[in-house]
Amino acid sequence: MALITPAVKGTKDILPSRSGAVRFLETLLLELAAGFGFKEIRTPVFEYTELFTRGVGETTDVVTKEMYTFDDKGGRSLTLKPEGTAGAVRAFLEHGLFNETLPQKVSYVTSCYRYEKPQAGRYREFNQFGVECLGAAAPAADAEMISLAQSVFDFLGVSRIRLELNSIGCPSCRKQYTAALLAYFGSKTSELCSSCGERLGKNPMRILDCKSPVCSAVALQAPVMLDYLCGECREHFEGVRRYLEAMDIAYTVNPRIVRGLDYYTRTVFEFVSGEIGAQGTVCGGGRYDGLVEELGGPSMPSLGFAMGLERLMLVLDKQNIRLPSPGGCAVYIASVGGEASLKAAQTAYSLRAQGIAAEFDLAGRSLKAQMKYAGKIGAAYTAVIGEEELKTGSAALKRMADGFEIPVALGDFAQKLSLLLADDALSGAAQAVAAFGPGQGDPRVIFKAFSGEETH
Ligand code: HAM
Repeated sequence: MALITPAVKGTKDILPSRSGAVRFLETLLLELAAGFGFKEIRTPVFEYTELFTRGVGETTDVVTKEMYTFDDKGGRSLTLKPEGTAGAVRAFLEHGLFNETLPQKVSYVTSCYRYEKPQAGRYREFNQFGVECLGAAAPAADAEMISLAQSVFDFLGVSRIRLELNSIGCPSCRKQYTAALLAYFGSKTSELCSSCGERLGKNPMRILDCKSPVCSAVALQAPVMLDYLCGECREHFEGVRRYLEAMDIAYTVNPRIVRGLDYYTRTVFEFVSGEIGAQGTVCGGGRYDGLVEELGGPSMPSLGFAMGLERLMLVLDKQNIRLPSPGGCAVYIASVGGEASLKAAQTAYSLRAQGIAAEFDLAGRSLKAQMKYAGKIGAAYTAVIGEEELKTGSAALKRMADGFEIPVALGDFAQKLSLLLADDALSGAAQAVAAFGPGQGDPRVIFKAFSGEETH
């Protein structure tokens, strides 16, 4: 086959064999966040470019090199979101949510776009699960945020992932630090890349985040912000550490974490895996006390994090943690002969109307081939309608997992299947949680969330 137009470099298709697990994961993450009081927000995939230049920062790699920016037909400069925070804060301001009870806590699963060099764990279109908490100044909020990310890993049974913590201070203590960085990097200008030469005059902290190996090596000896924190920032940082210790959440302080986006203040953190190659940061976040004001709102200390779903799934794969992929075909109704085929169509139609996923033969296949197909699509139950069944109006429902069979009147299929499937779902949910290891959630809540039933 000669494919004329392949997928764009750095993008990925999620095929039906994996989409169930992905949807399960996304729902699980939003449900876990809901348990911490976060409600989902959905914002557009593109925004005015200026939102990101102001929000994310003019000297960041994301803004200078990685944004997908274009003019629309009306001549407006728009950008595909490179991250979720700026859009969430924009929506928070635009809809006056700051007038409601604070803090406001929002969660999202969203596609993001960055023109980066694709490699394992780094794509040009990728997905983030993120949360933002707006209007919370206390160190308890930082610790709660971190504890949510930690509980995602715990619930999924992920191990060997380390939490690194740092404080990058506030604008007032950063002045002195910036002066120290200027003095340090100023003496090394000949070693820096051309972008960092420019950053030196504009925002020397960004040099700490440069991906060039030479600049990274120079940055290793640079002064660290922790040594320049003002009294209040130091106290805040110590408060966060005390809360983490009270919750028994293990961390290491890494004074070299600066994060790649300009809006951060005070606490920054990353969850890093050593098992998925060079792009090991699965989750990153921190406080952004000045962003709401920067985007035109009131002064409002806020914070959040985002987790890369592709990287999270790389870790799950590496650690052999399988996500359940529920859904699919509940019953396959095989038939022999033209009249039986009509009955199969009619039964499937009525089952579907009652919320039961049913399939029947669409290809005019032999009974043997139909049964083979039922096995391939993973039908939970099968039934065969032939002459005998048409005469008696009843057929045997067979559970494919263990061969259990029970005769049921064709008119009672929906009722009987509902009971059988509900029973199976509960034991399936228990298995799913067993596969996660020692999870903390109620498996039925997660499973119901997945199947679309009401959970609250
Ligand atoms: P970020 O560190 O730029 O932070 O991205 C968060 C996560 O998204 C990363 O840790 C990584 O897992 C994933 N990620 C980033 N770029 C790529 C890529 N090219 N391919 C695959 N995965 C990627 C933010 O975006 C902030 N908005 C997080 C935040 C929310 N801070 C406060 N609130």
